[in-house]
Amino acid sequence: MRKQIAAANWKMNLTVQQAETLVTDIIAAGVELKPNQEAVFGVPFPYITSVQKKLSGKKNMNIAAQNCYSKVCGAYTGEVSAEMLKSIGVPYVIIGHSERREYFKESNAELAEKVIICFEFGLKPIFCCGEDLAIREQGTQNDFVETQLKESLFHLTPQQMTGFVIAYEPIWAIGTGKTASSAQAQEIHAHIRSVLATQFGQDVADSISILYGGSVKAGNAKEIFGQPDVDGGLVGGASLVATDFATIISSLK
Ligand code: PGA
Repeated sequence: MRKQIAAANWKMNLTVQQAETLVTDIIAAGVELKPNQEAVFGVPFPYITSVQKKLSGKKNMNIAAQNCYSKVCGAYTGEVSAEMLKSIGVPYVIIGHSERREYFKESNAELAEKVIICFEFGLKPIFCCGEDLAIREQGTQNDFVETQLKESLFHLTPQQMTGFVIAYEPIWAIGTGKTASSAQAQEIHAHIRSVLATQFGQDVADSISILYGGSVKAGNAKEIFGQPDVDGGLVGGASLVATDFATIISSLK
């Protein structure tokens, strides 16, 4: 069975003290992760090391960075490279979150470079895709997401795509309290998997974890994660509340 993942995306929130308390409280909640399940904490860069220490020795709990730059190294003031993240033991990096696409103008082409740089330095991307409200209202979300996948991932090999992680996050559901229904999530996740199967083969597509993101809460996680093509979630707001995120982790298949 492919990996089921509850990934927290803290975004630009919390002080280091609040961050440490949050992780301590989530661990204290005592959620047991099965071998096919993983909890991932997408924390701001300055907290990676301290949160990593808290997670050390905890089975199937890992860190993610929220971004990395598309160049290897050099004169790019303020940026963080994949190699830096690898050198401090970070396994995952969120790539192409819709907030990066919108506020920092990250294009599909730039994200294609970022994904390659992640592989070069042995980081696992959590690649985000998803449409805005206008596209959903036109009913063209499947084509839109397919283009995002084509332009940012189709240069990868089937081997690189094996065990890959994708987060489908409809922009209209992020931070709005409005989730996709479990049927809407299943429909587009199945479409994403079929697009991946056509390009990379069914076995590879079946190995890829496709997470749903957008107003996942303690109260709706179980139903959404229960869909056959939904392999967990990427969670913003609710990942900042220890009891809520603990419930979300325990909602994984
Ligand atoms: P949300 O954010 O859970 O607060 O909607 C999800 C995300 O942006 O990853």
